[in-house]
Amino acid sequence: MSCPENALTLVRGAPRVVVFTGAGMSAESGLDTYRNDESGLWERVDPEAMASIDAWHRDPQPMWSWYLWRAHLARTAEPNAGHRAIAEWGRLRSVTVVTQNIDDLHERAGSDDVVHLHGSLFEFRCTECAAPFEVVGFPAVREPRMTPPACPRCGAAVRPGVVWFGEALPAAEWARAAEAMAGADLVVIVGTSGVVQPAASLPLLAVKAGVPVLEITPAPTELTRIADVSWSTTAARGLPVLVDAVRTGGLS
Ligand code: APR
Repeated sequence: MSCPENALTLVRGAPRVVVFTGAGMSAESGLDTYRNDESGLWERVDPEAMASIDAWHRDPQPMWSWYLWRAHLARTAEPNAGHRAIAEWGRLRSVTVVTQNIDDLHERAGSDDVVHLHGSLFEFRCTECAAPFEVVGFPAVREPRMTPPACPRCGAAVRPGVVWFGEALPAAEWARAAEAMAGADLVVIVGTSGVVQPAASLPLLAVKAGVPVLEITPAPTELTRIADVSWSTTAARGLPVLVDAVRTGGLS
């Protein structure tokens, strides 16, 4: 499906853009999404057992090895044409990336204004005193369990710097994202099913502020109904077309 003309009009006329991304943004880089029918990560891994704060307190070892291995997968993946298009867009206009993703592909593609709502695979801190901790090197093989290091300051277990089910989102990132959404001239939603709250409610702030919403998605999502335009394509195919329009079309 070629790019809808009203999508090109929206992107050409937007000096300040927010791109709201989810796991589908990294699918064409070879990283799993969570809810893609039979191939989604949560079809193979129980999120309650491997992505909740309760599970961490019960038995951190399987989670520690799983997140270190996921960090290896993300580090060995490459940004795709969609990540690179967003980074180029950021060199042409003001672009803030608000992502639910915990990989670093937006940054590695060159985006420099990235808000991580759900944390990062590459940040670690003490479970108790929150002292930051650096992990160097990630296992290429997923071990069933590994012992997390002890915090040098207080001795508690070091944890991944990601937001788990049962935890609040980081307040500073939430505030930055909410302000960006309400102050944008265009919000582009890419690669999220829009089912996880509170992140999925952020685009509603844009709608309330009268900001147009453009969605790029291969299949309808929970957010399709709030989009002014929903373009049925993928991140790596659709975003370069939008950025071409910005580059060649200028501000109308
Ligand atoms: N391009 C664009 N979108 C795609 C692509 C692609 N190549 N491939 C899949 N998608 C879409 C899917 O159709 C789906 O709508 O990406 C979306 C991925 O949805 P989820 O797997 O639910 O991922 P996400 O919305 O990011 O999940 C939100 O849930 O488990 C938590 O913390 C986790 O941040 C995650 C949150």
